Amino acid sequence: MNVRDTEVISGLLLKAGFKLVEKPDNADIVILNTCSVRQHAEDVVWSEIGVHKNGKIIGLVGCMAQNYKEQAFQRAPNGNFVVGPSDIAKIPHILKDLLKDKGILERKIWETDGLNRPEEIYHTGYYNDKNHAHLVISEGCSNFCAYCVVPYVRGPERHRRFTDIIKEAEQALDKGINKITLLGQNVNSYKSENADFKELLKRMNAMKDLKEFSFLTSHPKDTDVKLFDAMASLDKLSKWLHLPLQSASDRILKSMKRNYTKDYFLDLTKEYRKIVKGGTLTTDVIVGFPGEAEKDFQETFDLLKKIRFDAAYIFKYSPRPGTEADRTPDDVPQKEKERRHRLILDQQRSLAKKNAKS
Ligand code: 5AD
Ligand code: SF4
Repeated sequence: MNVRDTEVISGLLLKAGFKLVEKPDNADIVILNTCSVRQHAEDVVWSEIGVHKNGKIIGLVGCMAQNYKEQAFQRAPNGNFVVGPSDIAKIPHILKDLLKDKGILERKIWETDGLNRPEEIYHTGYYNDKNHAHLVISEGCSNFCAYCVVPYVRGPERHRRFTDIIKEAEQALDKGINKITLLGQNVNSYKSENADFKELLKRMNAMKDLKEFSFLTSHPKDTDVKLFDAMASLDKLSKWLHLPLQSASDRILKSMKRNYTKDYFLDLTKEYRKIVKGGTLTTDVIVGFPGEAEKDFQETFDLLKKIRFDAAYIFKYSPRPGTEADRTPDDVPQKEKERRHRLILDQQRSLAKKNAKS
């Protein structure tokens, strides 16, 4: 999502007459498009933002900007502007304002109150890759998983209009793009103009110049057999499903507010393997969520072995201020989080070898 947002910002800046350069050292303006999903992502930015030499205009954009608002200037006094994910359309204007003003280094601008992105920002035609476009179908998230900052920084789930998505896809194909990835925090709940996600997939598949397309990410609670049928029958749709498990302990899933159980998840993956023959299956897992006891962890460890994902991204729980889980103590010691993390990684490595062999 952030890669696409960076492209959108780049497209807007190019349209407004700015130029992109390869290295920050050669730039007059440096914009950091940021992530708040874990503390580590934020730490990297706080140290990165400090290294840019005075004399440049420096902007903090994205989820961290939304998270800290104008208080970001206290942590990063050399910053000139702070812009949240829903306000990125304003960046060219902010820059022109700052450039007009002689005392730019003292001037601070922040925009974090926006609710919606104007549709035009997706139509500048700028993509990093000349063959592959990432295409946003929905913004924000209303699921409020207990550990997650996304609903707070990206706002409630909003769906782009079906016709606008198709229009962007057609414009991208006209430019020579032949591969598209549909993006949303929870693509499966997509709905607009009486069309649901499966209808969008069907419509995409019918595009003449499109060779291949995929989507990211699916929430298990909104994923069903009908989606797998669509995946099996649509020839251009990649046979790849990213289905974040997070935990296989029903107790922990409940406190994470994920709205599914271990058995439901296991059944879903069995159906997937049965219907989408030879399909790839990947996942995300969090270890060390508050209250995760050894036996909860063991359930996750065992289920990963049973399901044999083609790839799994394993994260150590990172408390996010303002989230529901942050109201309970982060009671799994760091060392223990590291041990669980390592155990799953090692197991995944050997499973991946077996998967590759078969
Ligand atoms: N701590 C650790 N991992 C997290 N994720 C989301 N929030 C947190 C958090 N607070 C992980 C989830 C999600 C992925 C994008 O990041 O596994 O699926
Ligand atoms: Fe975060 Fe849950 Fe929404 Fe995913 S579905 S973005 S984990 S709140």
